[in-house]
Amino acid sequence: MSTVSLSIPYTLGYELPFLDRMRSLLHGGDLAMDLGTANTLVYLRGRGIILNEPSVVAVDAETNRALAVGHQAKAMFGKTSRAIRCVRPMKDGVIADFTMTALMIQHMLHQVGVKRKFRRPRIVIGVPSGITQVEKRAVIDAALLAGVRDVMLVEEPMAAALGAELPVHKPVGNMVVDIGGGTTEVAILSMNATLYSHSIRVAGDEMDEAIQRHIRREHSLEIGIFEAERIKLVIGSALPFGPPRSIEVHGRDIATGYPQQVEVTDEEVRLALHEPVTAITSSVMAALEQTSAEVAQDIAMRGVHLAGGGALLKGLTERLHREIGVRFFRAQEPLTCVVRGVGRIVENLKDLRALCIA
Ligand SMILES: Nc1ncnc2c1ncn2[C@@H]1O[C@H](COP(=O)(O)OP(=O)(O)OP(=O)(O)O)[C@@H](O)[C@H]1O
Ligand SMILES: [Mg+2]
Repeated sequence: MSTVSLSIPYTLGYELPFLDRMRSLLHGGDLAMDLGTANTLVYLRGRGIILNEPSVVAVDAETNRALAVGHQAKAMFGKTSRAIRCVRPMKDGVIADFTMTALMIQHMLHQVGVKRKFRRPRIVIGVPSGITQVEKRAVIDAALLAGVRDVMLVEEPMAAALGAELPVHKPVGNMVVDIGGGTTEVAILSMNATLYSHSIRVAGDEMDEAIQRHIRREHSLEIGIFEAERIKLVIGSALPFGPPRSIEVHGRDIATGYPQQVEVTDEEVRLALHEPVTAITSSVMAALEQTSAEVAQDIAMRGVHLAGGGALLKGLTERLHREIGVRFFRAQEPLTCVVRGVGRIVENLKDLRALCIA
């Protein structure tokens, strides 16, 4: 990994109250992190979530110095000159750009004050289940460089199940589907172990790209990826519900090259989302087909739990239920489910450390 330099050009997002600060200095203020394709979250032991930012970093193209991360960097996306590189360093749930991911992790850990407020904390980081050894090393090195003393990794489906408060320690089949930005991870867990896990590179980003392609094809309009995401958030759904709705979409007319706006309906968006939603449905079905009769019985009784931001797509649980026949439940606060699960490990490292993979 190449060398990275850091600068913290803006004020810290939060301040620990005096007593928390004293406690953190004494106990090291152990941390949990969900390193996601779309969002990165940090949890502080005894306190909860202290950082929740988009996984975007903007750097000076010449010096590789980080200029902004998270919301600030996301606001710059697609609007910077060549002097600034603004990137999403995670793609498809894996590290697409090592240097930028390292920079982002370090910057975010600095932002929560790792070196300033805590005495070399330990950190548990949630990572995709298919992560390679090289990627594990990159994540660990980045955290160590940021000043933590010990890095442990936990697979995201395990963290999602803990965050959804499923009894993963019991001999029952717990099925979770984590629909993030880059990947959908389908896993079945029992007795603190993973019985089945499979990850597909179809999730929220793919939905946004499907909307982008649809609008290009049907309306001859080129739109940015975050505009496509906005359409999904406002009128996206997996099943029809309520009265028809539409949204004004802004982009660039392909024929003239000029700024243009068009009206897009919820039905069109549903059509565009059909393919990614079908891919997610198929991966759940494939998992169910491979389970033992005993686990299938547990899942039939207990249902399947959805986590990750993609779980918030309107009508998704109903559509999955309709197509697969099993009950689907959306975890409480799907966007924070993984980091709260990693947080549970950090709150009880003595007993739950065994759930970590490194
Ligand atoms: N209300 C919503 N409806 C549909 N999608 C949503 C909603 N809210 C958030 N999302 C989508 O959820 C995705 C982000 O989810 P999440 O933060 O769980 O992903 P991540 O953990 O960063 O990614 P990954 O787990 O793949 O690395 C984005 O694609 C976002 O557009
Ligand atoms: Mg995730």
